[in-house]
Amino acid sequence: MRPLEPTDALRLLNGGPVVLLTSRFRNETNVMPAIWTVPLSRRPPFIGVAVNQARHTHDMVRFAEEFALNFPGRELLNHTHYFGMVSGANVGKLELAKLPTFNASKISAPLIENCLAYVECSLEDALRVGDHTLFVGRILVVQAEPEGFDGTWLIADPEYRPLHYLGIDRYAVLGDRLTAELRTTEEGAIELAESPEERERREEEEAKETERRRREGEDGR
Ligand SMILES: Cc1cc2nc3c(=O)[nH]c(=O)nc-3n(C[C@H](O)[C@H](O)[C@H](O)COP(=O)(O)O)c2cc1C
Repeated sequence: MRPLEPTDALRLLNGGPVVLLTSRFRNETNVMPAIWTVPLSRRPPFIGVAVNQARHTHDMVRFAEEFALNFPGRELLNHTHYFGMVSGANVGKLELAKLPTFNASKISAPLIENCLAYVECSLEDALRVGDHTLFVGRILVVQAEPEGFDGTWLIADPEYRPLHYLGIDRYAVLGDRLTAELRTTEEGAIELAESPEERERREEEEAKETERRRREGEDGR
């Protein structure tokens, strides 16, 4: 094990899908990628996103009191990174990127076309935490592409996998979907479905059985 800096712990937690946080205040729109997001409450449904106080988005959300989360796939990889490298304080990122947008249903922030899912939020609370503000969003509307999400991310089709951010300029998409299979003993302890030894023994028995059947078949002819 190699000792690291405290801030490396932040990156160890990276891996949740990247969202493109869109906002509108008066006539101005903005977008920034965010990964410091957190589910906060089921009833009522609240989601949190930590935005650095220096971001242009920070003031946009504070004043507009609403924001949207757009979930990009690999098709929007370069746009996502670009939106994280320049500030809307200096340029109109959405206009420059020429990405088509459409109207959200409950809020005025634009939604970016060709994303895999969208969440519209009104601002419920804003908590200062160090150099970030945790914006607590009340979830108003959620929509997702059925090819990508059916209650969980499907990740079957590479084009419909959400984008994950590792740090620097590195991104990833999820590979294999694994389904956990739990068996417990009567006392409630976890029991592995089959140990490697058990599997080996079973395969040996099966091979012997196949051989026996083959011989019997030969004799009967
Ligand atoms: C993939 C990615 C994820 C990011 N996540 C966050 C985040 O969660 N919170 C944050 O404050 N900044 C985050 N950033 C940095 C902002 O997106 C970046 O500073 C952006 O240029 C801010 O734009 P703005 O000034 O127009 O709001 C992230 C950057 C990248 C590339």
